[in-house]
Amino acid sequence: MLSSTLNRASRSVRARRAVESVPVTRRVVDRFVAGESVPDAVEATRTLRASGRLVTIDVLGEDVHDLAGARATRDGYLTLLQALAEDGSAEGADVSLKLSALGQALPGSGAQVSVDHAREICAAARAVGCTVTLDMEDHTTVEATLLAGTTLREEFPATGNVLQSNLLRTPGDIAALAGSGARVRLVKGAYKEPASVAHQRKDDVDRAYRRDVASLMESTCYPMVATHDPVMVEAATDLASASARSAEAWELQMLYGIRTDLQTALVTEGRQMRVYVPFGTDWYGYFMRRLAERPANVAFFLRALAHR
Ligand code: FDA
Repeated sequence: MLSSTLNRASRSVRARRAVESVPVTRRVVDRFVAGESVPDAVEATRTLRASGRLVTIDVLGEDVHDLAGARATRDGYLTLLQALAEDGSAEGADVSLKLSALGQALPGSGAQVSVDHAREICAAARAVGCTVTLDMEDHTTVEATLLAGTTLREEFPATGNVLQSNLLRTPGDIAALAGSGARVRLVKGAYKEPASVAHQRKDDVDRAYRRDVASLMESTCYPMVATHDPVMVEAATDLASASARSAEAWELQMLYGIRTDLQTALVTEGRQMRVYVPFGTDWYGYFMRRLAERPANVAFFLRALAHR
C-alpha cells in the first residue's frame, strides 16, 4: 500500500514539488546519490575503485519530453566519460542509461532519437574503455528497450540490457537472449506494475528471480546479478559454481549507499561487485523508488523531517 503510493508519487508533479521543497530532503537523498556534479561522480568512482569495487554510473534523469532535454542528457554522459578518462578512471567502468531520458517518449520518432543518442554515448564509452547498460523502466517500454539493445549490440557488442523478474514475460526474454552472449543485468523490478503483466507478491518475485538467475547462468550471457538480497547472492554463487562459471564470468551489482557492508564483504571473498552510482540534480524519481522498496527508508526520511 505504502509502496504503491510512493511509486505513484514518483510520477506526480505535485508530490515532486512538495518533496523537493523540504530542505532536509537533501540530507536523506545524499545517502543514495553520489552528488550533483561530474567531479562528485568521478570522486565517488575513485573511492569505490580503491576499495576493489567496479562502477556503473547514472546521470540522473528520466521521462524527458523535449528534444533539448534529451540532448542535454546525452551531453551529460559525454562530459562524464571525458572526465573519467582524464582522471584515469574510465577503463572497466560502465554507464547506465535510461532511454526515457534520451528522448524515447518524444512523439513520433522518440524511439529512434533515443537510440541515436545512446549510439553516440556507446561510441564515446568505447573510445575510453567503458561499457554501456540500458536501464529498464516500466513495462510499456520493455519492447523498445530490448530492441534498442539488439540494435546497439550490432555495432557495440558490449551493450547490456536489464531484465526484471517481476514481469511475467521475462523467461521468454531470457530465452531470446540466451545464445547472444549479451551482458544482462537481472533485477527484481522497481516499478509498480499491473497484475496482467507482473507478479504482485514478493514471494513470487523472489521465486522468479532465482529461476531467472539459474537460466542466465546456463546461457552464454554475461550475468549481472543486481540485488541486495543475501539469499539471492548466495543462490547466484551456488548456481555460478554449478554452471562452472569462473569468478570473472559473472558479477554482482548493488546500488550506491545500500548494503555497503555486504558489498565490501563480498569483494573480500573475491567476488566481482559493481556499484550503481547515480549523480545529478534530477534525483526525485530515483529517490522515491528507493523509498518505495523499503518502508524503513520512509521512517528514516520522516525522522530526519521531525529533527530538522
Ligand atoms: P529486496 O527488495 O528483496 O531487498 C533485499 C534487502 O536489500 C532488503 O531487506 C534490504 O536489506 C536491502 N534493500 C533493498 N532495497 C533497499 C533500499 N531501497 N534501501 C535500503 N535497503 C534496501 N530496477 C528496475 O526496474 N530497472 C533497472 O534498470 C534497475 N537497475 C538496478 C541496478 C542495480 C545495480 C540494482 C542493485 C538494482 C536495480 N533496480 C532496477 C532495482 C531493483 O529492481 C530492485 O527494486 C532493488 O534492487 C530492490 O530489490 P532487491 O533485489 O535488492 O531485493
